[in-house]
Amino acid sequence: MNLTELNKVAQAMVAPGRGILAADESSGTIKKRFDAISVENTEDNRRDYREMMFRTTEAMSKYISGVILYDETIWQKAKDGTPLVEIIRKAGALPGIKVDEGTKPLPNCPGELITTGLDKLAERLPKYYEQGARFAKWRAVIDIGPDIPSYACLHANAHALARYAALCQAAQIVPIVEPEILMDGDHDIDRCAMISEWMLKETFQELYYNKVALEGIVLKPNMVVPGKDGKTRATVQEVAEKTIKVLKNCVPGAVPGIAFLSGGQTDEEATANLDAMNKLGPLPWTLTFSYGRALQHAPQTTWKGKSENVAAAQRAFAHRAMMNSLAALGQWKADLETRKAA
Ligand code: 13P
Repeated sequence: MNLTELNKVAQAMVAPGRGILAADESSGTIKKRFDAISVENTEDNRRDYREMMFRTTEAMSKYISGVILYDETIWQKAKDGTPLVEIIRKAGALPGIKVDEGTKPLPNCPGELITTGLDKLAERLPKYYEQGARFAKWRAVIDIGPDIPSYACLHANAHALARYAALCQAAQIVPIVEPEILMDGDHDIDRCAMISEWMLKETFQELYYNKVALEGIVLKPNMVVPGKDGKTRATVQEVAEKTIKVLKNCVPGAVPGIAFLSGGQTDEEATANLDAMNKLGPLPWTLTFSYGRALQHAPQTTWKGKSENVAAAQRAFAHRAMMNSLAALGQWKADLETRKAA
């Protein structure tokens, strides 16, 4: 492992004013997104849709540090035969790859999930590196309910995250460590804070036991928010303060950066919350975005699978990328939302 090189990649992923585009939806997940805009879920449509974003050249080169790809995409070629990874690289962003293989029920833990994909991961990683991937992603999913999560679930998922991270670093790939506490449910913000803290502490403990070099990872956590069916909503300031409090209690300063998932927040919520956190700085780590839905919802609903909408969809993507870039610098203002990116 060359830690200097891993650290350089991790720093580039969280460079000031830049963040990550999570375009790694599995074919099943992208089907749900395509169903919502009445687009057929074919390999060509998935390629066209993603090519459209990656060719939003100016926004990609200014605001996007890296793109997380799904296995299908990393091998795909654009319509003109250029590999999609080449388009991403030419725009100045790093290609990354989702390597987990989704979740399965965790035995003896009703309602809880364990992320799979460790078997053969050591053999898969060098192939992804050769194809251009310089970072990877593995997502653990933790649900909050009246009797969950259990310690068994948090521990098993934290352990799998650490095993994955160690394998990535051995293959000279920066692991994005993603322990996601879901927004589903009616719990309040303090319960989310408590579970987020517990899971982060478990995760860093397991990273330590597995000798993962913290200088060569990027953390991708949820923000601390109330469950989406909860009666009490939280203000942007409350989300920012509670999230930072939890992170300060759990994340060592050796970690170069934290890139949040959006998790089902609206586009503007995800931007406003990130901005408010950065306004609370200085912080020990860079805070940026690694959004899927909050970056893609606007371009998807503009595109609708029609070639005549491509330019408008690219403008919508560029706008969200710019708004989140400003939020990553703590320089976003709500009234900028009404103006469109150039
Ligand atoms: P969302 O921003 O839509 O939560 O997706 C980010 C991601 O990569 C989830 O694993």
